[in-house]
Amino acid sequence: MTRITLINGDGIGPEISDAVVKIIEASGLKIDWDIQTAGEDVIETEGTPLPERVLNSIKENKVALKAPVTTPIGKGFRSVNVQLRKSLDLFANLRPCKNLPDIKTKFNNVDIVVVRENTEDLYAGIERQVDADTAESIKIITRKASERICKFAFDYAVKNNRQEVCVVTKANIMKLSDGLFLDCYRQVSQNYPQIKKREILVDNLCMQLVQNPSQFDVLVLPNLYGDIVSDLCAGLIGGLGVAQGANIGLDYAVFEPVHGSAPDIKGQNKANPTALLLSAIEMLKYIGQTFYAEKIENALFKTLSQGKYTKDLGGNLSTSEFTDAIITNLLA
Ligand code: NAI
Repeated sequence: MTRITLINGDGIGPEISDAVVKIIEASGLKIDWDIQTAGEDVIETEGTPLPERVLNSIKENKVALKAPVTTPIGKGFRSVNVQLRKSLDLFANLRPCKNLPDIKTKFNNVDIVVVRENTEDLYAGIERQVDADTAESIKIITRKASERICKFAFDYAVKNNRQEVCVVTKANIMKLSDGLFLDCYRQVSQNYPQIKKREILVDNLCMQLVQNPSQFDVLVLPNLYGDIVSDLCAGLIGGLGVAQGANIGLDYAVFEPVHGSAPDIKGQNKANPTALLLSAIEMLKYIGQTFYAEKIENALFKTLSQGKYTKDLGGNLSTSEFTDAIITNLLA
């Protein structure tokens, strides 16, 4: 039986993890879930939000499914998500954004893949209080990380029959750091004559995305722009409740939705499990369980096209009713 690490997170994490585990179980696929807790809840007992046992579990199993974990804002411990990505060198954050069947959105033809650098940039966490009225954050961009994320984006484009890889920077202002990222893109792109190239500044990209998103294919971005732009892209296809993601490195992969722990709807049976489910479907494809991945995907799409969905998408089903509807379609 395949063993996979499951970090069920906090906030809405446990609710959506339960839903996804139930759906996978109903598909007939047997998974030996290695459940690992992380975040604020374990600090008291283990002294850290990301105990070694979590990293060891992923190292052993190679693959993890992760629900969101809360990070205190403006204070407190360093993000578990950022630490996890860095400790396991999960350098590529892959966030495909495609319209779902029957979910009404402003645009019908969105099919964008956001490839976000995952290990450096302003997320390096190097900050200092210069004096009482001044704080400073350091933006780190290296050739090694920039080249490998650009190579990842082009390889992804080739493998998945995509036409274009567009690089997103603010190299007109951050001439050295974003300039280096752009330079790496230009160099790497020369090895992929079959893929179209495009360069755009991040502010212009945002405007173009909300006016005409179908012009974009694969986007490759430094960490912070990638984070912000992927939430924008999530908004184009129905919101955070349907936006999937994956953190991929050479040795390990952690699949997780784009969204956070949504404390505002925690424990109310309102959360949409679709983003975590789509992330799990990608995980099953990644480990070669394509049959079950497609079976679950078909049941999800069938459920949505029956007009059955959660409140964030304009529907009236609770998390558990939506989960049951998918399971009914799986068993039909
Ligand atoms: P959020 O993504 O948790 O929520 C933003 C809005 O989207 C909220 O109104 C929420 O109710 C809604 N939403 C999110 N996911 C939903 C779902 N599955 N179904 C229905 N509605 C959903 O962002 P927020 O509030 O900025 O962050 C909350 C916490 O999550 C913070 O501590 C943040 O650091 C953390 N976070 C964790 C991430 C991770 O574990 N990978 C990623 C992003 C944020």
